[in-house]
Amino acid sequence: MSKIKDPSLAEAGGLSYGWARQHMQILDRTISRLRDSQPLDGVTVACCLHITKETSVLLMGLKELGATVACCPGNPLTTQDEVAAFLDSEGINVYAWNDQNAQEYDWCIDQALSHSPSILVDDGADMNIKAHFDQKHSRIPVMGATEETTAGVTRIRAVERKGLLRYPVILVNEAYTKHLFDNRYGTGQSTIDALLRSMNLLMAAKTVVVAGYGWVGKGVAARCAGMNSNVIVTEVDPVRALEARMDGHIVMPMSKAAPLGDIFITATGMTDVIRQDHMDAMRDGAILGNVGHFDVEIDTDFLLSKKRGQVRPGLDECVLANGNRVYLIGEGRLANLAAAEGHPPEVMAQSFSNQLLSVLHILEHHDTMPKSLMNVPESIDRQVATDALAAMGIEMDRLNAKQEAYANSW
Ligand SMILES: NC(=O)c1ccc[n+]([C@@H]2O[C@H](COP(=O)([O-])OP(=O)(O)OC[C@H]3O[C@@H](n4cnc5c(N)ncnc54)[C@H](O)[C@@H]3O)[C@@H](O)[C@H]2O)c1
Repeated sequence: MSKIKDPSLAEAGGLSYGWARQHMQILDRTISRLRDSQPLDGVTVACCLHITKETSVLLMGLKELGATVACCPGNPLTTQDEVAAFLDSEGINVYAWNDQNAQEYDWCIDQALSHSPSILVDDGADMNIKAHFDQKHSRIPVMGATEETTAGVTRIRAVERKGLLRYPVILVNEAYTKHLFDNRYGTGQSTIDALLRSMNLLMAAKTVVVAGYGWVGKGVAARCAGMNSNVIVTEVDPVRALEARMDGHIVMPMSKAAPLGDIFITATGMTDVIRQDHMDAMRDGAILGNVGHFDVEIDTDFLLSKKRGQVRPGLDECVLANGNRVYLIGEGRLANLAAAEGHPPEVMAQSFSNQLLSVLHILEHHDTMPKSLMNVPESIDRQVATDALAAMGIEMDRLNAKQEAYANSW
């Protein structure tokens, strides 16, 4: 059972899947290693993830290991319709199409949960929140869940703080081999991709204002600096502001950066970061985009109320009362997914290897796992890093006996 946009796109989706799988060797090797033992036989897994070609490799992997899989999008604007069609043709229950309204998005999560999954794989916590607080789903006997991103970790932490968590949740985002590479290098590169596709202007000599110098902001700032843009960082955390300065960027508050920037990228996970007063102070032609998980970082309600029209795919022109034009990428949603294709496959292979190994960890240990949040076990993190190095054909040194003894002698 599925609801997708157009089943005839399945062949194109299959080609995208094949391309992604070829570049996701770590995940491919893990799936191949486990396929014969069918560890997920009889298990239903529901996934609330951006339905992209990279995600299709994880979903197909879960199925190849024996699971019944149901999936829905992690965002209303990020589904690749050809990938959804391919997954449907492969017997995965897909409730996903691009450009959904809020009710449709909600309905898709309901449909995925209606399969009574034992394990949930989430990105942003919309599915986990429903499985806790929506009466229709709050009794599903869930063994455990995973969470992919920073914003979802914040939300599920709030559930735990209130003592309401009803099953264990593994925070995949907190794995070193996830946030260090996916948030930083994945978002860094795919944000540049979104900027180029939506505006196709020269990056050199532009001033790019990056709001937030966490893992995502660091990646975006580094890539923009690499394109010879001047980078201004805005922060609220003194340590990260200092780090940004030491990394060579200029640091100042948004109120001062607003009149200086040509391009603004928010990456904070916080609401209300670029407000009307900031936009009023911007230059004519300023371009705004968000790569934080939710579309709350830029005041899009205000900006889109001034929309004149779409000047290029993924780029809306808005005209302010002062006559200045401000451009918004992907309606203020995750620009790197809404206006580009999300992270490259190599980086998603690491994130999704963490996801797959965490699903298997839940299956094996759920009886003894407390109903709390836990980080990805260190053994999984190190396994993913080891597999990633092997996939790249990279060897490294090992401590010899004398060095081990030295390290243990203190
Ligand atoms: N677009 C993607 O593909 C993608 C990938 C991974 C994570 N994310 C999302 O990106 C966001 C950031 O993730 P992260 O891992 O970098 O988180 P993080 O917690 O490491 O960094 C966020 C930073 O923003 C700063 N900040 C908070 N409020 C601010 C404000 N008002 N002004 C300026 N700075 C502010 C914080 O001090 C922090 O340093 C989250 O919403 C996350 O879910 C998106």
